[in-house]
This record gives sequence, C-alpha cells and structure tokens, in this order.
Amino acid sequence: MERQQRLRIAIQKSGRLTDHSLDLLARCGLKYSRGKDQLMCYGENMPLDVLFVRDDDIPDLVQEDVCDLGLVGLNVIEEKRLAMAARGGQARFEMIQRLDFGRCRLSIAVPDEFVYDGLRSLAARRIATTYPNVLARFLRENSIEAEIVTLSGAVEIAPRLGRADLICDLVSTGSTLTANHLREVATVLQSEAALIRTPVALPDEKADWVRRLLLRIDGVQQVRESKYIMLHAPRSALGRIKQLLPGSESPTVIPLDGGGDKVAVHAVCRENVFWETLESLKAAGASALLVLPVEKMLP
Ligand code: PRP
Ligand code: ZN
Repeated sequence: MERQQRLRIAIQKSGRLTDHSLDLLARCGLKYSRGKDQLMCYGENMPLDVLFVRDDDIPDLVQEDVCDLGLVGLNVIEEKRLAMAARGGQARFEMIQRLDFGRCRLSIAVPDEFVYDGLRSLAARRIATTYPNVLARFLRENSIEAEIVTLSGAVEIAPRLGRADLICDLVSTGSTLTANHLREVATVLQSEAALIRTPVALPDEKADWVRRLLLRIDGVQQVRESKYIMLHAPRSALGRIKQLLPGSESPTVIPLDGGGDKVAVHAVCRENVFWETLESLKAAGASALLVLPVEKMLP
C-alpha cells in the first residue's frame, strides 16, 4: 500500500556513482537518514525512498517496476539493452536524461608487457569483461574474432590469474589499471550517469513528483557551472563586455549613483568564470569585479 504512494529510486550501493548520486538527490532537496549497511533510505521530506543495489541490477529493478527510477551508468544501460536484444527481447526501462557526472569509458586494456599493434592484436585472444554484449558488438564491428571471458567482477586481475590475455573494463581515473600493470589501448564505449524510469504509467501524485524531481535535477545541473557576476564599467565599454561574459543572456545594466558615465552590470553566466575572463573584462574597462556562486536556479 505504502509502496503505491512513495517513489523508489535505485542507486549504486558502493562504487563510482554512489556519492554523486546521493549528492544530486540532496541538492534536489531530499533529506534522508542512512544507517550503517542499510539497503534503503527513507526520504524524510519527500515521498521518495532510495534503494542501494549493485549497479548491474538497476535496469532490471526498474523495468520490473520494483523501483520507479534508477540512477545508473550508460555502460550498464547499453549492456542490458544488448543482452535483452540478444535474447530476442527489448529493454522496457526508459532513459529519461543523461546526468553530468560519472563520466568514464569502457576500454580494452592489456598487460604492460603485451605487444599491441592495433586492434588486430586482439585476434584469437581471451578478453575478460563484465560487459560481454557491448564487447561482442565492438569486436563484430571491427571484424575481430576473439574469445570473450565473462566475469562478474575483479576483471582487472584476470590476466595475472591466467584466466584471460587482456581485459575490457571501465576506466575513470585509470588508477585501477595502473595498480594492476595494465594499459589502455582502445575505447569501446563512452559513458556517464543517466536517469531511467519504469515503463509503467505512474499515478498522478507520483508522476507529479517525478516531474518536480526532473526540474530540480535540471536546476542542479545548471547551477553547477553557473556564476553570478557583478562589475562596474563605463557605458562605452558595454558592447565589448557583453561579448566577454561567458554564456550569459542579456545582463542587467544599472546606473550608478553619482557615477557619471559608469554603470553596474549584473549577469548570470552559465559557464565557469575563469581568471582569464576576469582579466579580459578588466582590460575592456571593467572594475570592481565580483563573482558569486549560484545556490539554486529554476528556469
Ligand atoms: C569501475 C571499474 C574499475 C573502476 C575503474 O568500477 O570496474 O574497478 O571503476 O576506476 P578508476 O579508473 O578510477 O580506477 P565501478 O565503480 O563501476 O563498480 P563495479 O564495476 O564494481 O560495478
Ligand atoms: Zn557494476
């Protein structure tokens, strides 16, 4: 009964996406309590509960309508889609939106001593991965015949254990590869986090919360890069200054009390404001420059 009224979102239990996922939900206003090893958090101020699961399980939980929403990498989404297609089926979860975190790539990596001379060096080799379907497509597209060794984890140690000659795994900072004496040689897939939803139509109240959440996510994403910039400038320099303001729509121009020809310019910049930009603005005649972070934004 309760389940009918509260939204449930699945996120990665422990991994690259966990902290960013929780941070995004917190920035969307969600207050929750999480006990040690707890698999579920109860949203205290929204009818939204967070379920902590293995990322590979997220697409299934969402398409089987156990969870309404899921935050998961495109790598997992793509693997699931291809796996379903290989069995003659079709993924039933819907991708709503890409999110600007969790960027990484699925790459082929070889042991340090492996002599790599282009993709043909992969022919007839054993490649360990947890992404057999994405890897199979890549090999097919490049006309390479190789053996795929499907593992459920710890792919990076497969070559040392003699289970495979090389691997196909996610690379983010690259430190896992380095620690295991492997080097990246080819990119199979670019990935970042995305939001997926159940194929089932939601009752009005839940659908409304999903809409609100999406708007807030949009706001959070814009705010990340946005800055509020204030400066003084002679009116004659306005044209040049407007050109220099990064990603801002029509700025507000305010006359300064007793300032003569000088005006104050206020603008929201939808890009990061770098020192170089401030220096250019100053060179164009601006003074009293101030850059402030933007806390919230609702278009
Ligand atoms: C991935 C991957 C590597 C690690 C690479 O794990 O399996 O272990 O990230 O990151 P690095 O290049 O920064 O070292 P992920 O967090 O996706 O968890 P999972 O593979 O266990 O689901
Ligand atoms: Zn995983």
